[in-house]
Amino acid sequence: MPTFQPVRGMRDLLPEDAEALNNVIATTRETAKLYGYREVITPVVEPYELLSAKSGEEIRQRMFTFKDLGDRMVALRPEFTASIARLATTALRNEPKPLRVFSVGSVYRYDEPQRGRYREFWQANFELIGSSMPEADAEVLLLTNSVMKTLGLRNYSFKIGHVGVIRGILSQENVDDTIQNLILQRMDKKEYDEAFKLIEQEKCREVLQGLSALKGATPFETAEKIRQYVAGYAKAEAAANNLIEILQLATAMGCPIGTVDAAFARGLEYYTGMIFEVNVPELDVALGGGGRYDKLIEIFGGEPTPAVGVAHGLDRIVLAMQTQKLRSPIQRKKTAVVIPVKQELRAEALKLAQMLRDAGVSVEFEVMGRKMAKALEDADKRKVDYAVIVGERELKEGTVVVRDLAKREQTTVDIAKLAAKIRD
Ligand code: HAM
Repeated sequence: MPTFQPVRGMRDLLPEDAEALNNVIATTRETAKLYGYREVITPVVEPYELLSAKSGEEIRQRMFTFKDLGDRMVALRPEFTASIARLATTALRNEPKPLRVFSVGSVYRYDEPQRGRYREFWQANFELIGSSMPEADAEVLLLTNSVMKTLGLRNYSFKIGHVGVIRGILSQENVDDTIQNLILQRMDKKEYDEAFKLIEQEKCREVLQGLSALKGATPFETAEKIRQYVAGYAKAEAAANNLIEILQLATAMGCPIGTVDAAFARGLEYYTGMIFEVNVPELDVALGGGGRYDKLIEIFGGEPTPAVGVAHGLDRIVLAMQTQKLRSPIQRKKTAVVIPVKQELRAEALKLAQMLRDAGVSVEFEVMGRKMAKALEDADKRKVDYAVIVGERELKEGTVVVRDLAKREQTTVDIAKLAAKIRD
């Protein structure tokens, strides 16, 4: 038999990678609690129709889709928002609003693999359902800021836009929704010329071209220029005002806004309002992204319900932390290995190991039956902090020998004080 490798675009996360990912997950989960988001766990496999309904052509084409044995068309989730919107129309339908929901897990897209782009990756997802107020949009930016800050990331910044500006102009110029979606897809890929070619009305094409070229010295100046530029397009004007309000709230709270971009579009089709991404200079892919989607829940059969959310790309956050040489804010606990001096002391040593675990110390037991020198050498190689050496004479005196493997020092410690000595 040949040896097997993971499927292209999928990765094994070895212990250190898994630990790095889990530490980021812990920070997002803690942030969710601080902001009042309650966690739900939804299936990895969902009906194809649910996932494809408003995700947009880009994601639709990249889904892992198959028929299950019951002949149902299903897919691996490419994101969480559709699943949460499904819940908002079913099991969570009658929950009081606002509803704040957090999820974390793996998602699947048949993207072209490269640095920071995988076919199985991890997201932490936050949805705030039931409010159309700018403070709700600001909250999603702020909690993203909190995650980045807690992890110690430097020089990250937000790029913000508003789908309502472009859609407002296109609707008023009678460009139908299907064409609007195609235009936004092209704009998401930065294929602006291709995008504008799809607009038949010359005046409208010129207006959008002009809009996409708008730039101010600061994000506020750009937003203000957008607002003035779209005067006369009522919906676009309202969108620009909304964007300015959100910007004011987010900047007042110290959220680093890098750019405001009127031509910024995102691949997902369900967005109706503010959209954003967060980036660090070291990576050319976004660490997270989100926005407002006020129609999706209604499309899924619920009451008209405004909503806004974000997904953090956890693999990319880990990559950014590694590139910036950051350690996790979560303190690693000290570890120990318990080694009996001779086989006859196994039972006593096992008891001691269990006592330490009961006191919350992470303990390995020497199970290879090796001589002391070999067992210590192995513990040292695997970067265990302490070796607890269980000898007959010491046991009689209620003590053990504790070796600090990094410092290469040993001391005799009372068993009663052992857990505290290792922990602290
Ligand atoms: P998204 O921008 O498609 O948004 O994905 C969010 C984040 O997932 C991206 O910013 C990126 O960090 C990460 N990501 C995307 N594709 C890959 C990939 N192939 N490999 C590694 N990481 C990737 C959404 O998924 C929306 N559901 C966000 C949202 C929630 N909007 C409203 N609520």
